[in-house]
Amino acid sequence: MYNAFFGFKESPFNLSPDPTFLYRSQVHEEALANLIYGVQSRKGFIVLTGEVGTGKTTLLECLRDFLESQFIEFAFIFNSRITADQFFEMIAYDLDLRCNRNSKTEVLFALNHLLIQQANENRTSVLIVDEAHNLEWEVLEEIRLLGNLENRRGKLLQIILSGQPELDRKLEAPNLRQLKQRIVLRCGLQPFREDETIAYINYRLERAGMKDQTVFPLEIMSEVHLRSQGIPRVINAIGDNLLLTVFATEQRAATLEMLDEVCRDMRLEWPGRRTRGERGRYSPESFDTPPSLYTRGD
Ligand SMILES: Nc1ncnc2c1ncn2[C@@H]1O[C@H](COP(=O)(O)OP(=O)(O)OP(=O)(O)O)[C@@H](O)[C@H]1O
Ligand SMILES: [Mg+2]
Repeated sequence: MYNAFFGFKESPFNLSPDPTFLYRSQVHEEALANLIYGVQSRKGFIVLTGEVGTGKTTLLECLRDFLESQFIEFAFIFNSRITADQFFEMIAYDLDLRCNRNSKTEVLFALNHLLIQQANENRTSVLIVDEAHNLEWEVLEEIRLLGNLENRRGKLLQIILSGQPELDRKLEAPNLRQLKQRIVLRCGLQPFREDETIAYINYRLERAGMKDQTVFPLEIMSEVHLRSQGIPRVINAIGDNLLLTVFATEQRAATLEMLDEVCRDMRLEWPGRRTRGERGRYSPESFDTPPSLYTRGD
């Protein structure tokens, strides 16, 4: 809505996991390098975890771009609330396996055939599962069994499980200890530090077409960091709403009053937030809790 007003080619704070907007914070850079290294060196199981909205799916999309550029076969399962049968069907679909996709036996045969063929050509294949914290035990067990396929040069299928921190807790369950033992690489995403939040906002604005931005003064960006706790999705939501307000009021830059209003509309909570009750004091119970985001209409 405001793109023409600010001269943006694209919306700077889009909520989609677009790899072309990737800001390479140290943690994101390391995690992506680990994912690529894990696949290339045929490590087998790799786990990527991070709090809600810290950029897991975005990194997986970057990995997808890398795999495509290297012509590496992969299946990408992004809906993890599935049965074991659906799981095999989705793998068969993604890897274009020529078999009856509703028969687990046929899918396994075709998959095995593909993996051996790839391995003979010194290539590997990858299975990516996003939102893996939601996987049923039965599906996790099937994934573990797929991870057993190997030849003398390494694992035939590289498996990346990505999910919220519950995934780590799930993998601690006694019935999953075999799977846990096979995890060779773990990457964890963290929210941005304050300097990274500032660099991230500047980067997204520049990437969208606004060089040397002045719409977000430094003190506003610091305040956005505090209120978002450095979580990229929350920063994007605040940034988008702030731009809309600046546009609607035809101002040059975002102000603290605008930020207050945006946070109120978003019903955003953050540590140390001033309680807007009659007493107007800081709410002690809101310290040390992660920010929660309710968007309009929730
Ligand atoms: N390093 C980054 N660079 C650019 N944008 C990012 C980065 N990390 C996250 N984002 C942005 O933040 C938003 C949330 O990212 P994403 O959907 O990847 O998070 P997630 O960890 O998968 O969240 P969830 O736990 O809800 O699945 C997206 O708009 C994404 O583009
Ligand atoms: Mg995600």
